[in-house]
Amino acid sequence: MVKKTIFSGIQPSGDLHVGNYIGMIRQSVNLQESGEFSDLIFCVVDLHAITVFQDPKVLREKNLELSALYLAGGIDPNKSKLFIQSENPDHTYLAWIFDCFLNMGQLFRMTQFKEKAQKFIKADNLSSLAEARALFEGPVGLFNYPALMAADILLYDTNVVPVGEDQRQHVELTRDIAEKFNKQFGEIFVLPETRVDRDAARIMSLQNPLSKMSKSDKDPLGTINILNTPDEIREKIKKAVTDSGSEVVFKEDKPAISNLLVIYSRLSGKPVEEIEKQYQGIGYGQFKSDLAEVVVGSLKKIQEKYQVIKKDEGYLNKVLNEGRDFSLEKSSQKIKEIKRLMGLGR
Ligand code: AQP
Repeated sequence: MVKKTIFSGIQPSGDLHVGNYIGMIRQSVNLQESGEFSDLIFCVVDLHAITVFQDPKVLREKNLELSALYLAGGIDPNKSKLFIQSENPDHTYLAWIFDCFLNMGQLFRMTQFKEKAQKFIKADNLSSLAEARALFEGPVGLFNYPALMAADILLYDTNVVPVGEDQRQHVELTRDIAEKFNKQFGEIFVLPETRVDRDAARIMSLQNPLSKMSKSDKDPLGTINILNTPDEIREKIKKAVTDSGSEVVFKEDKPAISNLLVIYSRLSGKPVEEIEKQYQGIGYGQFKSDLAEVVVGSLKKIQEKYQVIKKDEGYLNKVLNEGRDFSLEKSSQKIKEIKRLMGLGR
C-alpha cells in the first residue's frame, strides 16, 4: 500500500450535529473503509474550541463526549488513531512558527474569521473592511486559528483532509503555508488536498436554510444534534422551515426543502432523485414525518453505541492514550526536523 495519511478534527465547542456527522465523520468513515490510507488520524481539537470562551468543566466533558461520538459514528481504533489536540504540545509549537510566517492580510481574508468576528465588532455600519479590522475586539486566537489548523495538518504529512465546505479555505491556506515554507527552508511539508463530499458539503440550519447548521447556533430548533431524543428530532423536523409551494424537489429556489432532501439522502443512502420521485404529488407533511423517522433510525444506532462506549471509561482512555502516543511520536520527529532547518535551539 502506498503510504497515505488522512487528518481531520472537530471542535468540542458544543453538541455534535448532523452537519458535522454527514459533512465530516461519515465521509471519514467511508475513507477509513476504502483501504486507500495507511494512517488515519482524527482529533478532538480543544485548543481550537477555546478561541471562543468555553466553560472548563463543560469542555472536559465535551472532549470525552466527542471522542466517544467519533467512535460511535464509525471511527475504528483498529484502523484509525484518535487523540485530544491539547495533549500534544507540538501543535501549538508549530502554530507559533506559522504565526511568524503568515501575514495578517491572509488571515483577514478568511471567510470564517469574517463571520465569527462580527460579534466582536461593536459598530452597526462599517464603511470598510479596514474599519472592521480596526474595530475587532475579539481574541487573537480567533484571528490566527488557521495557523493552528495548518500545524495540525502539516505535522503528520497529511495527504487528504476530509472536511465540510466551510473548511476548504483553511486547507487552501495550509497548502500556501507549506509551499512557502518548503521554498524557504527545504522540502519538508506534504501539500494536503481537501476532500469535500460534494453533495453534503454544507448542511444548513433547519430554521434558516441560508446559514449553515452550526454548534454555536443560538436557536436550538436550527440543529439536529446526534444525541437528541427521538421526540426532539421529530419536533425539530416538524418545525423546520419550508419553501413556498408543496413539491419535494431539489432546486436552487427551494433551499429549505433541498437541505431536508440532502439530509434524507445522506442518512438513508437513497439518491435525491429517488426520494423526489417517491414524494411526487405527496407534499411536505408526509415527507417531513418520514424524514424524521429516517433521522431517528440512523441516529439510534450511533446513540446506542455511544452509551456503551461512554460508560467504558477504561476503553475510551486506552484509545485516547494510544492515539496521543502515536501522534507524539510522529509530530516530535517532524518538529526536530523543522528546528534543524530553521536553526532553532542548539
Ligand atoms: N453544516 C455543516 N455541514 C457540513 N459539514 C459541516 N461541518 C461543520 N458544520 C457543517 C464540518 O464538521 C467538521 C467539524 O467542524 P468544526 O468543529 O471544526 O467547526 P465548524 O466547522 O466551525 O463547525 P460548527 O458546527 O459550525 O461549530 P462552531 O459553531 O463551534 O463553529 C468540519 O470538517 C466542518 O467542515
